[in-house]
Amino acid sequence: MSELTMDTLVSLCKRRGFVYQSSEIYGGLTSAWDYGPLGVELKNNIQRFWWKQMTQLHDNIVGLDAAILMHPRVWEASGHVENFNDPLVSCKNCKQRFRTDAIPEELWAKRQCPECGGQLSEPRQFNLMFKTHMGPVEDSISVVYLRPETAQGIYVNFKNVVQTGRVKVPFGIAQVGKAFRNEITTKNFIFRTCEFEQMEMQFFIHPSEDGKWFDYWKAERFEYYKKLGVRESRLRFHQHGPDELAFYAKVAFDIQYEFPFGWKELEGIHNRTDYDLRRHGEFSGKDLTYLDDGRNERFTPYVIETSAGLTRTVLTVLSDAYDEDEAEGEKRVVLRFHPAIAPVTVGVFPLVKKDGLAELARDIEVGLREDFSTFYDQGGAIGRRYRRQDEAGTPYCVTIDYQTKEDRTVTLRFRDSMQQVRIKIEEIPAAIRKATKEYQRV
Ligand code: GAP
Repeated sequence: MSELTMDTLVSLCKRRGFVYQSSEIYGGLTSAWDYGPLGVELKNNIQRFWWKQMTQLHDNIVGLDAAILMHPRVWEASGHVENFNDPLVSCKNCKQRFRTDAIPEELWAKRQCPECGGQLSEPRQFNLMFKTHMGPVEDSISVVYLRPETAQGIYVNFKNVVQTGRVKVPFGIAQVGKAFRNEITTKNFIFRTCEFEQMEMQFFIHPSEDGKWFDYWKAERFEYYKKLGVRESRLRFHQHGPDELAFYAKVAFDIQYEFPFGWKELEGIHNRTDYDLRRHGEFSGKDLTYLDDGRNERFTPYVIETSAGLTRTVLTVLSDAYDEDEAEGEKRVVLRFHPAIAPVTVGVFPLVKKDGLAELARDIEVGLREDFSTFYDQGGAIGRRYRRQDEAGTPYCVTIDYQTKEDRTVTLRFRDSMQQVRIKIEEIPAAIRKATKEYQRV
């Protein structure tokens, strides 16, 4: 594996249509990104993969899709109005702003700007929530916030789900959606942005079982990234020390990934105790306790939260998949995505356009659409077409040649090994499914 730089990755993402700068024709908007044709497929596939792992494969986790805009009291109860702050300093010379924890210690000790060496101001607390107004009048009673985490939509629906969802503690509620934070420092591409997506699951339990369920979800979530095809050697846990713990957490572990810019958080697993349900009970005046018939006990459940960034997982998967090797004496750029999440599963090519091969290839491609995400390409030398699909991370390519007309066989080519096998047209779906199931990263 060659050393990947962020410049290389960002330029590949733009060139191949994974990620574009937001509003680029106007000079771009800092810290907002758009997902192009390949990027949106990759993001959707990761989301579907997470959803399946977290809901379908468990009999006690249900889904939810709550609104981004919520009653402003939600954020008072959750503690975000009071506590969701970052300490901010600005440079008196170049006017740039920084989070204090993003400044190297030796510079911070001298209150020196990391960009120009100028004098830094004293820190002040800066709330990360985006404020907006609901309705035509922009006064203090019309203030609403864009949610900074999806979790609160789950807590405020706890009672609804218990009453209508036929669930019993222990059970979970899963949700995927946008979240917004007015981040002071946004860099490293889509790693930390002001608008992003989260995949969160809140697991409601009896308070006496918090240790057991925390360990369960911590292990489960680590395994999930391995299933997603992320290399284990680039994953590790990081336990939050007392000064790192979020205001709602009793215990927290991050799953970190080794990005090209170092080890950073990919997902947080938190023991949020009964903090959120208790606070929403107090602020709303509604009873958010749970009656456990089996235990014959009423209590406020504790919550074990697993909180993953969807857009940050896209960056993880892209960084992890990037590789360079050699094909036919030339450098080959290849994205070794797990086939289950690759934006295109199978590329279909006629060897040449003439003699009916293009029509035959089209028919085969259309026949595969129902089961797989396909891409038809008849332009340029076959080697170049393979290279284009390698760079897009397409795990399989099917080539139709003159022999296909005679015996209805095609070549199935594998992205990672570049090996080719000859199989019958009808065998393509089964061969792809088998290879995907058995996929091992080289
Ligand atoms: N509900 C708990 C929560 O939001 P968090 O550690 O603040 O916890 C969870 O965020 C995950 O959301 C992070 O591990 C990260 O993957 C993602 N995330 C947080 N802030 C982000 C940002 N500004 N841009 C992209 N992803 C972000």
